[in-house]
Amino acid sequence: MGGPDTPENKDYIQKHKLWTLGELITMHVIQTQPQSLDEFIVKILTNEKDNPTTTIDPPSAEIAASAKAYLQEHRVAFVIEDWLRAVLEAKPDTPLDFSIAHFGKGSNGADAGAKRPKVLVLLYSTYCHCWAMAKAAVEGATTAGVQVDLMRIPETLPPEVISKMGAENAAVQMASIPTASVGDMALYDGLLFCFPAHFGVPPAQVQTFMDQTGGLWMSGALTGKPACALVSAESQHGGQELALLNFHKTLYHHGCIVFGLPSGPWIQADDGVHGNSPYGASTVTGIQGERDPSEVDLSGARALGQRLSQVASKLRTTN
Ligand SMILES: Cc1cc2nc3c(=O)[nH]c(=O)nc-3n(C[C@H](O)[C@H](O)[C@H](O)COP(=O)(O)O)c2cc1C
Repeated sequence: MGGPDTPENKDYIQKHKLWTLGELITMHVIQTQPQSLDEFIVKILTNEKDNPTTTIDPPSAEIAASAKAYLQEHRVAFVIEDWLRAVLEAKPDTPLDFSIAHFGKGSNGADAGAKRPKVLVLLYSTYCHCWAMAKAAVEGATTAGVQVDLMRIPETLPPEVISKMGAENAAVQMASIPTASVGDMALYDGLLFCFPAHFGVPPAQVQTFMDQTGGLWMSGALTGKPACALVSAESQHGGQELALLNFHKTLYHHGCIVFGLPSGPWIQADDGVHGNSPYGASTVTGIQGERDPSEVDLSGARALGQRLSQVASKLRTTN
């Protein structure tokens, strides 16, 4: 790929924008209640007049009808991509500047047009320790007056492996938490990731999730969003800080405004084992997972959640 103005580079960016749009629209459709499909089609496919962000010609009635059929089967991306490609062939200079707000509601019913800023807490946890920390983070974030949603990063291990790991019950307990799609992140003003440390890095599940964000990266959808993380590890020096710092690198690539925990009692407490550090909140689970997060650990998670909400309110990136 050449420099920013070369035809190759422009072509590359254009292709990725198409892909991102297809991905975002599909994500939205999958998460939208079926009764809102008609409304959705009107908004996305008919160049709604009161939407100043839409600059692309509407599709023909034939394409719209075909899109509707696909929408009902949750396979809209190809149709949308074809339509965008046809538009671009006819008018190569058409800017692809759809705004995220154009896609309406996210998986949790988060309304992109809502007045309150909103933050997303993304959880991956095998045995629920990070879930307990995530709940404390949600509590802290809520005190700052923003909308807070908790979603799960999808599991990638087969059930038999989860069973061998003795994590079946935990999986059942967490099953009611809605599963996130990568596009969800674009709908929020701030992001907090919660995951266990695995050998000093985030678990593969988190990495797999972030490896699907090429489209978001290309479109800059996460740029300027405040983001932070909390972790757990079985031992007190089991790689918490490294896992946080390693994950922060991914957030930097997305242009996020990355931060950790400010100094406070959640870090300075010296009356027992605890996990918090300036790089983020953390808890120590013990070798058998026997330790629940301590009050100090939870207070760090609350402080991190609250900080995220405060920063997200100031830097608001959604409408
Ligand atoms: C593949 C794997 C690697 C792990 N590596 C470490 C490690 O390097 N240091 C450590 O203290 N704990 C390690 N652990 C333990 C996890 O950090 C621990 O199970 C987790 O923090 C529990 O949190 P959860 O209940 O939210 O899943 C590892 C666990 C797994 C499954």
